[in-house]
Amino acid sequence: MKNILITGGAGFIGSHVVRLFVNKYPDYTIVNLDKLTYAGNLANLKDIEDKSNYYFEKCDICDFGSVSNIFRKYDIDGVIHLAAESHVDRSIKDPFTFAETNVLGTLSLLQAAKSHWNGNWENKLFYHISTDEVYGALEMNGGFFVETTKYQPHSPYSASKASSDHFVCAFHDTYGIPTIITNCSNNYGPYQFPEKLIPLFINNIRNRKPLPVYGKGENIRDWLYVEDHARAIDLIFHEGRIAETYNIGGFNEWKNIDLINILIKTVDNLLGNPEGTSTHLITYVADRAGHDLRYAIDSTKLHKELGWSPSLQFEEGIERTVKWYLNNQEWLDNITSGDYKRYYEEMYKTR
Ligand code: NAD
Ligand code: TYD
Repeated sequence: MKNILITGGAGFIGSHVVRLFVNKYPDYTIVNLDKLTYAGNLANLKDIEDKSNYYFEKCDICDFGSVSNIFRKYDIDGVIHLAAESHVDRSIKDPFTFAETNVLGTLSLLQAAKSHWNGNWENKLFYHISTDEVYGALEMNGGFFVETTKYQPHSPYSASKASSDHFVCAFHDTYGIPTIITNCSNNYGPYQFPEKLIPLFINNIRNRKPLPVYGKGENIRDWLYVEDHARAIDLIFHEGRIAETYNIGGFNEWKNIDLINILIKTVDNLLGNPEGTSTHLITYVADRAGHDLRYAIDSTKLHKELGWSPSLQFEEGIERTVKWYLNNQEWLDNITSGDYKRYYEEMYKTR
């Protein structure tokens, strides 16, 4: 596979995957297909946007005609599908957009790949990026999610991702299209939209704003540094077995309130504030509806089959992440003001 379509490449994880592939594989054609929703930001890819193997297509995955044209234009033979609506709180307010993008958008891409490849499946791959949230929630001491754990999504977000996973499997089982699915735990790192816990809280600590902790802050998430996820995607794209599912996670569980205290300590320390300066910003607020108690991934299969394991210790990853957000205040300020959208909209009008 040499002509690779990466959807959602202007988002958080997608931008790390695009960067890795563009830099590592100069002989591949990397096409970034993105609608540039509120979460898509081409400033995430400034360092590689002029590379000769990189192409950007502003497109909605739900627009079957335009997606099909892009398959033909670049003769796409590999797809890494990340484009999605990704924030649970937004899905609670507006479930329709999640069904549209995550379910119908994935179906549109699958159908376009199937038509373009037309039964010639050799050296073709549709790789779908999914989440551990499709498995539902674990009890405090309730083991781990493995690849065979029953799907039991609770939020409109996870229900839409579960549905898209089922469509991917159905396209393999019904038509024979080569597919792989991976289900990853919570990612953190540079370029994450500041509505998610870690960048939101770093930004709020910097701006001395309240830190809204849902419920008692006792929910547990399993955190993975985003570049480790991108490395896993690269490995699985090239060496994963067709029709398989792989779980990706770092065996790195944190109770929200403990993680928040680490963030406070790290930000205060890097800003030169005495320890405990920002603790008073913690504000307990009403819990998220249907808030999943605990996620925890068992990634033994990926480790045993392909030799992947995370490269970073959490403390190092958090320090790196906090430093990145503090050193990239312009990126954060542009996002929170919406300026990045206006800048790139103008740029694409004049190109
Ligand atoms: P993100 O919200 O940061 O980025 C999503 C990208 O998709 C944006 O660039 C957006 O413009 C684009 N997009 C949205 N709707 C589109 C449409 N209709 N057509 C074309 N492009 C569209 O998301 P993320 O956190 O980078 O997540 C990427 C993928 O990884 C998602 O599929 C998500 O479910 C999955 N995932 C995320 C996490 C996580 O912790 N963030 C963990 C596991 C899996
Ligand atoms: P989030 O980053 O939205 O990821 P997800 O819901 O996909 O796990 O939230 C991570 C955890 O932090 C989750 O348990 C909800 C909690 N949370 C808060 O307590 N306050 C917040 O403002 C946000 C955004 C999340």
